Amino acid sequence: MRVIIKDDSADCASWVAGYIAYRIKSFKPTAKKPFVLGLPSGSTPLGAYKELIKLYQNKKVSFEHVVTFNMDEYVGLPPQDKNSYHHFMYENLFNHINISPKNIHILNGMTKDFAAECENYEKAIKTYGGIDLQLGGVGTDGHIAFNEPFSSLTSRTRIKTLAPSTIKDNSRFFDNDISKVPTQALTIGIGTILDAKEVIIMATGKNKSEAVHQAIEGNINHVWTVTALQMHQHGIIVCDKDAASKLAPTTVEYFKSIEDRVR
Ligand code: GLP
Repeated sequence: MRVIIKDDSADCASWVAGYIAYRIKSFKPTAKKPFVLGLPSGSTPLGAYKELIKLYQNKKVSFEHVVTFNMDEYVGLPPQDKNSYHHFMYENLFNHINISPKNIHILNGMTKDFAAECENYEKAIKTYGGIDLQLGGVGTDGHIAFNEPFSSLTSRTRIKTLAPSTIKDNSRFFDNDISKVPTQALTIGIGTILDAKEVIIMATGKNKSEAVHQAIEGNINHVWTVTALQMHQHGIIVCDKDAASKLAPTTVEYFKSIEDRVR
């Protein structure tokens, strides 16, 4: 695992955007061999999306041959709902870059057949040869995508009932009214995430410090599903100092010394 500790969320955002652009460019994607990018929603990746838009505007990266798969979507919210992840992605990224609509994949939370929707999503990812780079955030309870505590670490795309902690955290987007937050979501699984060739998890702010501590220093377990990243050969955690504040000083020193030597 690589751990990148930056001063603040803005530094995390530019590092992540720069890394994604670098990966896309070095892949030299074509129509026949597109770069497959897994994307999250939530407030954490917003800065990275802004930076990616700037990189695109400055002609430093093109999304012409990039295919995306979003991690998750609420059940029961239509794409035009301002809280749907469809809406979030178009507003904050897709409307501002040269990605082709046919290359965008987001789970349909309005489907009548959840099992078929999830199975087809897994199939579609496979059709493209898997996800090259999966970006994610993490919940305060350590969930990634909507793989809530006690999710199987081999889970695939499926419907999940949301944990009370997630409903409470996400109620800030729903007028702070927990009764307005959908209780279920469709989400890629931990197994789906671990199949990606590379995974970056971003975490910023003090409220993510326990999740970061568990992810890096805790044991692999299904309570803090982010700990599954420890089983990935190319996992990267990018966090700011606040999110890293519960790490042991020796852990911070170790990862910083490695990054200093890589540079
Ligand atoms: C939601 C999303 C996750 C996201 C998490 C944290 O539950 N399904 O993908 O990582 O929220 O969100 P935020 O970045 O807003 O803290």
